Amino acid sequence: MSHNPNLTWYKDAVFYELYVRAFKDGNEDGHGDLKGLLTKLDYLQELGVDCIWLLPIYPSPLFDDGYDVSGYRGIHEDFGTLEDFKAVVDGIHERGMYIIVDIVVNHTSDHHPWFIESRSSKESTKRDWYVWSESDQRYRDARIIFLDTETSNWEYDPLTGEYYWHRFFHQQPDLNYDSPAVQQEMLDIIDFWMELGIDGFRVDAVPYLFEREGTNCENLPETHDYVKRMRAHVNTRWPGRILLAEANQWPADVRAYFGDDDEFHMAFHFPIMPRLFMALKQQNRKSIVDILHRTPEIPPLAQWCIFLRNHDELTLEMVTEEERQYMWEQYAPIPRMRLNLGIRRRLAPLLDNDSRQIKLLNAMLFSLPGSPIIYYGDEIGMGDDIWREDRNGVRTPMQWNSSNNAGFSNAAQLYEPVLNDPVFGYELVNVEQQQADPGSLWHTIRHVLEVRKRHKVFGRGTFAFALPENEGLLAYWRVIEDASAADSPVEKVLVIVNLTGETQQTTLDLSECAGTRPVDILTDKVWPGVDHEPYSLALAPYAYHWLKF
Ligand code: GLC
Repeated sequence: MSHNPNLTWYKDAVFYELYVRAFKDGNEDGHGDLKGLLTKLDYLQELGVDCIWLLPIYPSPLFDDGYDVSGYRGIHEDFGTLEDFKAVVDGIHERGMYIIVDIVVNHTSDHHPWFIESRSSKESTKRDWYVWSESDQRYRDARIIFLDTETSNWEYDPLTGEYYWHRFFHQQPDLNYDSPAVQQEMLDIIDFWMELGIDGFRVDAVPYLFEREGTNCENLPETHDYVKRMRAHVNTRWPGRILLAEANQWPADVRAYFGDDDEFHMAFHFPIMPRLFMALKQQNRKSIVDILHRTPEIPPLAQWCIFLRNHDELTLEMVTEEERQYMWEQYAPIPRMRLNLGIRRRLAPLLDNDSRQIKLLNAMLFSLPGSPIIYYGDEIGMGDDIWREDRNGVRTPMQWNSSNNAGFSNAAQLYEPVLNDPVFGYELVNVEQQQADPGSLWHTIRHVLEVRKRHKVFGRGTFAFALPENEGLLAYWRVIEDASAADSPVEKVLVIVNLTGETQQTTLDLSECAGTRPVDILTDKVWPGVDHEPYSLALAPYAYHWLKF
């Protein structure tokens, strides 16, 4: 507890999501590891992020990159040991940062000893730890998530002649949460990692814990009951530590996962993400405005997590069929770019490597309501390789410098080769080169984070649209009454962005701020004074401003 004086630290935090395997190789075996990560904590601190989220680090056959766990109380041997993990936790805390790790609660690997035991016979003491059935016709209303690889959520197991239930790959059997032993075991696993000093969990695949006939087996009341039990457990034993939900659902359904501040502390806002990309292509704010109008208020301790990209395909589950076709046409013109209901590309290639658009989306990410998450490598505009298997093309080694293997490792063979194409190859796109260039994306992001840190309004303030007539412009107010800022008790920032590639003019009614001169806190430029007349402004193509009043 000692490192968590501020119990709601997550509201001000900027998160950074990384793959230990992809970040830095510390023992030159071609796989990133915890020892390597330890040497890069200074880098993360310098960038200005507050909380590091590690993708799964557990023993695993890595069929689904660690989301197929074969042991919950250890570290994958490629990544190091529990001692190395402890050193990383300490290193992060010493630098004033936080750490959360992924916990995969819905399923295990089929290599997990529990499953091996469970499948061994119908009489096994672990039989009911998984969901078995004589027929593959149950729960027909549950959708298939990995559409490109799976044809059913049931897999026949010849050993006992029954089927087992799985929502993801068939190598990932679902745990049976109707078993009290499974429910208890997960709480014990939570304790195990909390005791090692982490600050919380990103909880994987939350909506699917229970199955009930006649439902789509998502967001069931039983799932909420169990989540409440998890939260109560964490509140009592680990105050100040957080639970972040991965629930890829519509805003109203995700809202339920905050409960009355008795379920998750945080949850990803999935639906806003594709709409940021959509608004940019349409040069119109409408889709963003609509989804935020459809987003309910959340309880006082809760916080959204927002992101542009992550380790998965850019998911298009939370859009209409028509919007999905539009997104695919615009952002995935080559069929190989599509994966399941999404797009397997990184941020910079999606935006044609146009630094103006990349910076614009980041300026929105860091000022919309919620805590932002940066996906490793996106701070330097790393590329992808759509021809690699599954989602591996967005999980390539971090590009540190222009030396051999991008400074990631000296091994002859890497877990995945570094990118070496003419646009995004490591000799062109790397940390060292961007740190040396004051105009680089890296410096821009670092600067934005530094500004954000000085203004509580972004993590904690209220949100309201200002709707100028010109729909190519998106503008919103962030306001906080008690900013505990020295100069004024109220902090009021108007974010205004130009979603188009042309100069845009508009007027705004700012009469309530008459008599003041706004300052763009990103450039320190003082803007013309406001009076009772409509305030006219012109925005350069893809320009963004954070105007403080
Ligand atoms: C989550 C993860 C994804 C994984 C899936 C199954 O959606 O983000 O990477 O494949 O869960 O665990």
